[in-house]
Amino acid sequence: MKILITGGTGFIGRQLVNALSADNDITILTRSAGKAHLELGRQHRLLGNLSALSSLDGFDAVINLAGEPIADKRWTLEQKQKICHSRWDITTRLSQLFNASQHPPSVFISGSAIGIYGNHDDHTLIDESFDLTQHNDASHTDFAHRVCTRWEALALEAANSTRVCIVRIGLVLGLNGGALKKMLLPFKMGGGGIIGSGKQGMSWIHQADLVGLILFLLHNDKCSGIFNGTAPNPVSNKDFTKALGKALHRPTFLPMPAMALNIALGELSQLLLEGQYVYPNRALEAGYQFTYPQLSEALAALMQNQ
Ligand SMILES: NC(=O)c1ccc[n+]([C@@H]2O[C@H](COP(=O)([O-])OP(=O)(O)OC[C@H]3O[C@@H](n4cnc5c(N)ncnc54)[C@H](OP(=O)(O)O)[C@@H]3O)[C@@H](O)[C@H]2O)c1
Repeated sequence: MKILITGGTGFIGRQLVNALSADNDITILTRSAGKAHLELGRQHRLLGNLSALSSLDGFDAVINLAGEPIADKRWTLEQKQKICHSRWDITTRLSQLFNASQHPPSVFISGSAIGIYGNHDDHTLIDESFDLTQHNDASHTDFAHRVCTRWEALALEAANSTRVCIVRIGLVLGLNGGALKKMLLPFKMGGGGIIGSGKQGMSWIHQADLVGLILFLLHNDKCSGIFNGTAPNPVSNKDFTKALGKALHRPTFLPMPAMALNIALGELSQLLLEGQYVYPNRALEAGYQFTYPQLSEALAALMQNQ
């Protein structure tokens, strides 16, 4: 297959590109050829800008994961604009290109995040049938909700031309990027502990399962629409903390109070203090089999490779 991937140099994208490399002809949209060569070698085609294309004719599939990192910097107005427009502008252009194609690629897999569901204090499992429009409460003024709602709508503009799958990605567990990488050092030093109340849901997924799910959606013609990219067993922050401490054989006595995080991170602290318990109903119904459905096994497998 000829596949166009945006965000291919990122934490998830790199693993996806490696999984697809052997059997596919890959083009990576990147702002930096040097970074792409460093991360992925020189065997892939690179594209610097989508404006170089007038259609997607010739591609069989598009996977869209690009976006300014959401948790790297404080959410100033300027940073929020970057987070939004890096996703929205690329996705807008991709949908336009799908709709301008004589023979559009047969599938468009586009990223989103479980932050679209807003904050939910209770442990009720949220699946893809959750009606976002009926819950006009404060959670829906959340920044992550607003970013993702538009990001998804823009990807769905290609739906008349192709099969669109949106993956609402959860907390991706891997050692080379994402939240776990940031948590490892404090936990290893014995400084890990629950965050805020510890009751907030953490809907995690092992990196191999996220890549597996994307490949499953790529090849499964019957799949379209929204898919939660999370393991079937979300846990509370308290249980996540215990499991990570156990996997690292480290104590987890040091709590991180909500107020300290608010002061240190501002609005960005929402990502740590709030959560939701997300369930991947549609992936399971479609027949995707998780390699790591349980957190303890997922963490043990990752720590083995340290
Ligand atoms: N990791 C997670 O736990 C998680 C959870 C939920 C959702 N997601 C979503 O899944 C996608 C991939 O996640 P990831 O962790 O692999 O992200 P990542 O490592 O931050 O990589 C994203 C890629 O996007 C491109 N990018 C970054 N800033 C950009 C900007 N300002 N404008 C245009 N392109 C930009 C970069 O490619 P170049 O530098 O090559 O251009 C980068 O390699 C992201 O959209 C993220 O929001 C991730």
